Amino acid sequence: MRLTVIGTGYLGAVHAACMADIGHEVLGVDIDSAKIAALGEGRVPFFEPGLQDVLGRTVASGRLRFTTSLDEAADFGDVHFVCVSTPQRPDSPAADLGAVDAVIDGLAPRLRRRCLIVGKSTVPAGTTARLTARVQELAPEGTDVEVAWNPEFLREGFAVQDTLRPDRLVAGIQSRRADETLREVYAPMLRAGVPYISTDPATAELVKVAANSFLATKISFINAMAEVCDATGGDVTTLAEALGHDTRIGRRFLSAGLGFGGGCLPKDIRAFTARADELGVGSAVSFLREIDEINARQRRRTVDIARDMAGGGFDGRRIAVLGATFKPDSDDIRDSPALAVAAAIHREGADVRLHDPEGMDNARAVLPLLDYVPDVAKACEGADLVLHLTEWTEYRRIDPAALAAVTRARKILDARNALDAALWRSAGWTLRALGRPTPPPLPSQQKAFDRVSAVSPAELG
Ligand code: UDX
Repeated sequence: MRLTVIGTGYLGAVHAACMADIGHEVLGVDIDSAKIAALGEGRVPFFEPGLQDVLGRTVASGRLRFTTSLDEAADFGDVHFVCVSTPQRPDSPAADLGAVDAVIDGLAPRLRRRCLIVGKSTVPAGTTARLTARVQELAPEGTDVEVAWNPEFLREGFAVQDTLRPDRLVAGIQSRRADETLREVYAPMLRAGVPYISTDPATAELVKVAANSFLATKISFINAMAEVCDATGGDVTTLAEALGHDTRIGRRFLSAGLGFGGGCLPKDIRAFTARADELGVGSAVSFLREIDEINARQRRRTVDIARDMAGGGFDGRRIAVLGATFKPDSDDIRDSPALAVAAAIHREGADVRLHDPEGMDNARAVLPLLDYVPDVAKACEGADLVLHLTEWTEYRRIDPAALAAVTRARKILDARNALDAALWRSAGWTLRALGRPTPPPLPSQQKAFDRVSAVSPAELG
């Protein structure tokens, strides 16, 4: 089939490359000519593991091309995927649909052949219906065009595998023909057994925001439990493990720490509450405001604990920050909890020396006043405190004894509960974490605890 992918940012570039990889002829379209030039040469202009290979081979095969011309796109596509971003509006929690509307306004009048426009961007419920009316108004008389919604669930860092082997496909369609077209697009996945849910557009639009709301709720739930653990001396990581064994709950998305960020979860729950307000059902999802607030609180708690560890204030303190991106295996710093903490302590007078394996250029562009150091040991040189804020694998591999030799104090805050606390403590570090007791039990207490744990229920009577 001949597909266009309009908007070749993160979502669009991945979708275009993967659709070409499963055999379609694909034309990627964007208004950013520099991005189009890079992609056209088979170069990925951002960091995403595995994408370079797929893009390189599909561009080389001739199945994937790029253009800035909507005329060419309109001529080419049987299916037009709309993959532009829908960020939060600067002045309200609602989603900004300006880019989606601009694509429809640009594409619809140029259409001359029968086609299906398929939205993939995350949008408020009701968008497909609104855009359908707009397309009917703008498309030349007699052109057979339909609109469908097919939300994308990919995660940064796993984008290629999530696109080629998704957990499910959701198609919000308005006719049997649109359904058949989408089944043909995704035929290799359907043959591989990927569940395909065909529904009305409003449900499809809702699946995406409901899924992200649920994930955000899971994270904020465990972070709320972490706060309770801090008050009771409990350990949130053990709590999460024990909860996760219940198959109704599941272990994933129960990692407590600094909370969620990125270009999706925070803005999607806000846009959802804004849309629910408009629909008159705001009170049904008002709990999402609390989810957002719990999330924000983890950033404040992290700054408070760091301040305490730094001796009551940051003025004149050198703080090494490990991690800038909103999660590992990404260079994305949008709404990054790590960067929010780094900015906050810098505002309070800390001399911040920041390291991140992939996100430093992006971070420097928004926070130019921090010191960016491309080497972990150098970033920690003379530090009064180390903050572990994004759980990159390379930070887990740090030798705490070797790092202790370069810092001024052996103090680390693991705000992602990802480091081996016992290892760091045995190297003489004071390690604090969110939702975990500190200081650790003494070795003699630990032995006694192990003995109790080893006692069978029968022995306990
Ligand atoms: C998310 C959804 O997972 C994806 O389905 C959707 O298409 C886009 O939004 P993404 O933004 O790439 O994907 O990141 P995700 O892996 O979901 O992580 C989001 C944030 O939650 C990160 O900041 C991460 O650090 C945090 N997180 C995740 C936790 O704090 N704890 C967890 O247990 C899991």
